[in-house]
Amino acid sequence: MDPDRHAEHAAAFTQNADEYAAVRPGYPDAAVDLLVPPDAHDVLDLAAGTGKLTAALVARGLHVVAVEPADGMRRELVARLPQVEVHDGTAESVPLPDASVDAVTVAQAWHWFDEPAAAAEVSRVLRPGGTLGIVWNDRDEDVPWVGAYGALLHEAAGPQLARGTYPTPGPAFTDVLRTDVRWDHVVAPEDLVRLAGTRSYALVLPPDERAALLGRVRELVATHPATAGRDRIAVPYVTRVYTARRL
Ligand SMILES: C[S@@+](CC[C@H](N)C(=O)[O-])C[C@H]1O[C@@H](n2cnc3c(N)ncnc32)[C@H](O)[C@@H]1O
Repeated sequence: MDPDRHAEHAAAFTQNADEYAAVRPGYPDAAVDLLVPPDAHDVLDLAAGTGKLTAALVARGLHVVAVEPADGMRRELVARLPQVEVHDGTAESVPLPDASVDAVTVAQAWHWFDEPAAAAEVSRVLRPGGTLGIVWNDRDEDVPWVGAYGALLHEAAGPQLARGTYPTPGPAFTDVLRTDVRWDHVVAPEDLVRLAGTRSYALVLPPDERAALLGRVRELVATHPATAGRDRIAVPYVTRVYTARRL
């Protein structure tokens, strides 16, 4: 994706932050267990958004600092988690001192970063031996109805946003591991339409194209044999967790 389009998509998160908070899935406990080592105390949740992962970190009694560049997302985060120290900042310029945290978490956001610049900043703010935990919630598109749902969204995204971006945090890190956690997110049918509407590429569409896309999603959910007529739908997810240790 060219830099202007990338910036437009990243900025789109400022819109509809409350909708994002309402319909995007959180992260399963088994994934959070992997993201932060048991002896960590100070954690930076980078690109914290509305605080979906931040909330799970706070619930574990960790001291959490959140960094997020989008005003709308930050406002939602502050409203939901007033006890968290929240900073305006980016992965490429993290407003924290050197060697100040035991762990950095990045949920659903590493693909937005300039990877070498972000890896250098994460390495700078981590204490030696500290950990980087990166996570993506991917729907399991091997399940046919989920594949059809994803195909609608990918069609809207164009080829630039095809999935498959994996982290390579570089020479400052070792022990890079990937673990998959499988789970179901149970939602109402209309939530699948709302979820589609929170994707960055749906946010930047002209209103008529956005309405047409969401109409196609609504029709799929209403007519596919696996989802038609249900009042609750289990959406299968494969949550991919990547961990690495700073040398
Ligand atoms: C899909 S949201 C994920 C938010 C949150 N971590 C979660 O799990 O719900 C991606 C977030 O990355 C943020 N973001 C985009 N580019 C960024 C950058 N260069 N540095 C830091 N955050 C960025 C966006 O503002 C948005 O809040």
